[in-house]
Formats: sequence, structure tokens, C-alpha cells
Amino acid sequence: MSADREEEESPLPQVGMIIEHESGQWRVLRNIASGPFSDVFFVSDVSNSRQKYAMKVEKQNGNIRAVLKLDVMVLSCMQRRGAVGFPRMIAAGRTSAYKYLVMQMLGPDLGKLRRSLPEKRFSLATALKVALQTVDRLQALHDAGWLCRDVKAPNLVVGINDDEDNGQIYMLDFGFARRFRDSEGNRLPPRPNAALVGTFQYAPLAAHAHKDQSPKDDLESWFYMTVELIKGPLPWGSFKDYHQMGDYKKAIRNEKRVDFLYGCPEELGNILDSIDGTTFFDEPQYDLIRRELRTAAVRADVDMETPFDWQIQRWMLRRAHFVGDLGESNMASERLANDTTADSDDDRSSLPVETTPPLE
Ligand SMILES: Nc1ncnc2c1ncn2[C@@H]1O[C@H](COP(=O)(O)OP(=O)(O)OP(=O)(O)O)[C@@H](O)[C@H]1O
Ligand SMILES: [Mg+2]
Repeated sequence: MSADREEEESPLPQVGMIIEHESGQWRVLRNIASGPFSDVFFVSDVSNSRQKYAMKVEKQNGNIRAVLKLDVMVLSCMQRRGAVGFPRMIAAGRTSAYKYLVMQMLGPDLGKLRRSLPEKRFSLATALKVALQTVDRLQALHDAGWLCRDVKAPNLVVGINDDEDNGQIYMLDFGFARRFRDSEGNRLPPRPNAALVGTFQYAPLAAHAHKDQSPKDDLESWFYMTVELIKGPLPWGSFKDYHQMGDYKKAIRNEKRVDFLYGCPEELGNILDSIDGTTFFDEPQYDLIRRELRTAAVRADVDMETPFDWQIQRWMLRRAHFVGDLGESNMASERLANDTTADSDDDRSSLPVETTPPLE
């Protein structure tokens, strides 16, 4: 069968099309997001059109990084463990042209919600509440033996059903996830030269230095994200060059520290010190981080029981749908699209990094 013929038999999902699987049929309603590795669609159940889901689709051909397999692996692992705050998986399948994953439909992501605000930052209460919940998500992911390696607000989404979700933040997108323990639960040794994966803006220093990542590096990305939620766009947000971003991240440990943390509760400084003091093999100090966040809330007289900003200002949810994927604060967050050292579930640690030149 020619490639054209195959395409004809299984075209890529388009609005109006029905996707059939042994466990159900879904109608494609609209596109939610298009990225370098995948597209996400809003779909409805053909047998009950009020039941909506999200469907993530990855083309089979010409895709340099197999992301969906990792999404399925991580989400099914978290589902088996009964972890909260990860989208429920409904079905996964493939056709000759694409692979797909049908999952729980959730609300806009926190990147778009933040950028829907004129000042591009959340209230302190919302930022601290998000930070607390995401520390829990990361701890659950790490307990299951997975690293995310792409922690950022666009990969966190809100629940759409206030009653059911009760202000829950969900973590998704495990296209860069990687196991950091072997099947016996032992830590894998660091590889000497790792590809820079993830999103430059939030990449930890280890990734900039082409070092293998560990749980504390997810916390480092989480930290940059948290400062952005509190203060607005990161100072290196408009940089085009990732070397420059890396240099700025180093400087916030020294001469730029005061400036960078200005406007954040001082507890954020203690959290940065804790993350920086954690080594590759150490477990991050999740409890200390949560304690510091709670102390910050008390000192700033912030009521952590207040609803999230988007629960008070409902227009944020509507406006978030019209915020582009790459807003001005996200200019530099293009993923390293030519990363062909896709070190996902297989260990190709001995392969040299060919597509990412060393920093120095
Ligand atoms: N279950 C869902 N419910 C609602 N929106 C979703 C859902 N899954 C994804 N999205 C939206 O689609 C966007 C892109 O999805 P996702 O992050 O999984 O893919 P991606 O960024 O293209 O990453 P990759 O291709 O590396 O997996 C998210 O930022 C979010 O806004
Ligand atoms: Mg994403």
C-alpha cells in the first residue's frame, strides 16, 4: 500500500471526524493546542454527546520524538497508584497515520490563565496554592520513579468542574519524562552527557550543563515557574539564546539574587537554597518546601482558603482560550525541536549528544 493510500484510509484527525476504538467512539469538536510533537483536540463521546474528553494525537510519520508512549506510560502508572491530580486515561490507540490518547477533559492551562491577566501574574494566594499543589504532584511522580523534565505552567491545567474537582490542579504532558530508578528501585547512575530536553526558560542548570537530571531538577524548574506565577515574566523570558538564559540563572544565585527575589516572600530564598543544596542522589526536601510556602502565606497574611483567581474572576477562563500558545513571555520556550537523543524509557546513556553542542 502506498503512503498516500494509507493516508487516505487513515487521515489525521479533523473537526467533525469520528475516531473509533474498541472501547468507544469520539467525535472531534475542535483543536485545543498544536505543538511540535503533538496536537490536542476537544472530543465528545458519540454515544453521549454531553460527555467531553481531550484527545492528544501524535503523527506516526516524521515525528522525531515519540511523546505519546510516555504520556500513556506515566498516566497509567499514576492511575494504578491512585494518585490525584493527573488526568484520567480513557483509551489509547493508533491508526496507520497517528497515535492517540483520550483522557479526562480539563480546563485551561496555568500558562494561559496567567497570561490572561493584564499584569501577567497571579495573586499571591493563587500562586502559593498552585505551588503547594504542584509540589505534591512532583512528589507523587518522583515516588513512582518518574522525572517530568518539563515542569512549567502550560503543563498544569485546572479542573473544569468546580464541585467535582474542588480546585484541583492537574499535571500533564510527560513527553520528556524519564525513569530515574531501575526496576528494583535503585537509582540509575548519572549519564556523563545528557541532551538538553524540556523548555529552555524553565530548564534547570543541570540541563544547561548537559548533565543528567534528577528529582531536584524538577523542583528547580518548579521554582522558576513559581517566581513567574508570583511576579510575572522571568527576566530571561525574552532571551533568544539558551546560553544567556543559563548565565542569568547562575547569576540569580549570586549578584542578581536580590533583584530576582524582590517582590517574593523571603521564604522563596530559603526554598532556592534547599533546592540548590540537594544533590543528584538526594531526595528533595518536599516537606521543608511546603512548610516554607505555608509560612510565607501566614507572614503575608494570605488566606490559603480563598478560591483561585479564576474561580473569582470567571472571565479569566474565557479569556485564557484566546491567549496564544506562545505569548511574549514564552518567546524563548520553543522546545529543542531537533533533539534526536530521545532518551525516554530506553537507556541510550552511552550515546554521545549529537544535536546539542556543549555549552562551553
Ligand atoms: N486533558 C486535557 N484537557 C484540557 N486541555 C489539555 C489536556 N491535555 C492537554 N491540554 C492542553 O493542550 C496543551 C498541549 O498539551 P501537552 O502539553 O500534553 O502537549 P505538548 O505541549 O504538545 O507536549 P508534547 O508534544 O511534548 O507532549 C496543554 O498545554 C493544555 O493547554
Ligand atoms: Mg505541554
